[in-house]
Amino acid sequence: MQYIRLVTGLMMMAAILLAVSVQSISAQDREEIGTLASPADIQKFREEFIKNFHRTGLNTTIGDAAFLRIMVECTNAQRGLEVGSFNGFGAINMGMGFERNGGHLFTLELDPETADKCRENIKKVGLEKTVTCITGDALQTIPKLKGKFDFVFLDAAKQDYFNYFKACLPMLKVGSVIIADNVVQSARAMKDFLDFMENDPDYDMVIIRASEEKGDGMAVIYKLK
Ligand SMILES: C[S@@+](CC[C@H](N)C(=O)[O-])C[C@H]1O[C@@H](n2cnc3c(N)ncnc32)[C@H](O)[C@@H]1O
Repeated sequence: MQYIRLVTGLMMMAAILLAVSVQSISAQDREEIGTLASPADIQKFREEFIKNFHRTGLNTTIGDAAFLRIMVECTNAQRGLEVGSFNGFGAINMGMGFERNGGHLFTLELDPETADKCRENIKKVGLEKTVTCITGDALQTIPKLKGKFDFVFLDAAKQDYFNYFKACLPMLKVGSVIIADNVVQSARAMKDFLDFMENDPDYDMVIIRASEEKGDGMAVIYKLK
């Protein structure tokens, strides 16, 4: 009887170990997206990658990132700019939308090591042709960018949102969507930005909460003129 219990116990342990090892070669660690055959497989790989992404408090929440992706797709945005890449969680989500639209996303990151990590993650999900991460201070990088933009996501230094916006302004098309993160928790730091958006008749703004995770909110701004 004891022998049967021991064998059953060993079999259960083996099953658990097998399940864990199958899990541990999940999308997060594999670099085989290039070998996946169908768009459905690639989509599944990316969804799993997003689900298992090692997010920290700096990252956008899963709900916010999904909202960004949906906004990119439903506005058919073609050229996007993210200010503050971190490790690329938001960029991957928006990048999926830009890829479907046949567009491109530029994401700007101050810290060189963080920018490398962002590029690494973008490559892991096969979005390197759609998303370009540029290292450097966004306030220096933005004026060097060429062409027009129709989608902007602000998520770097909160007190600089108005400066990022002013730097982007010459390149913003009428009809552009600007999304700014952390507008509830960091409202004071970005008061100049929020006051401008609330009072300027060329812009329409609403503050939304796509996720309860951080008790924060995002401003969704539409450039009317
Ligand atoms: C909140 S995190 C961004 C999170 C990311 N958007 C996401 O969706 O997961 C802010 C990032 O902005 C970067 N940053 C801060 N000031 C910056 C600047 N002036 N130019 C570019 N990046 C900046 C920080 O290094 C940090 O990685």
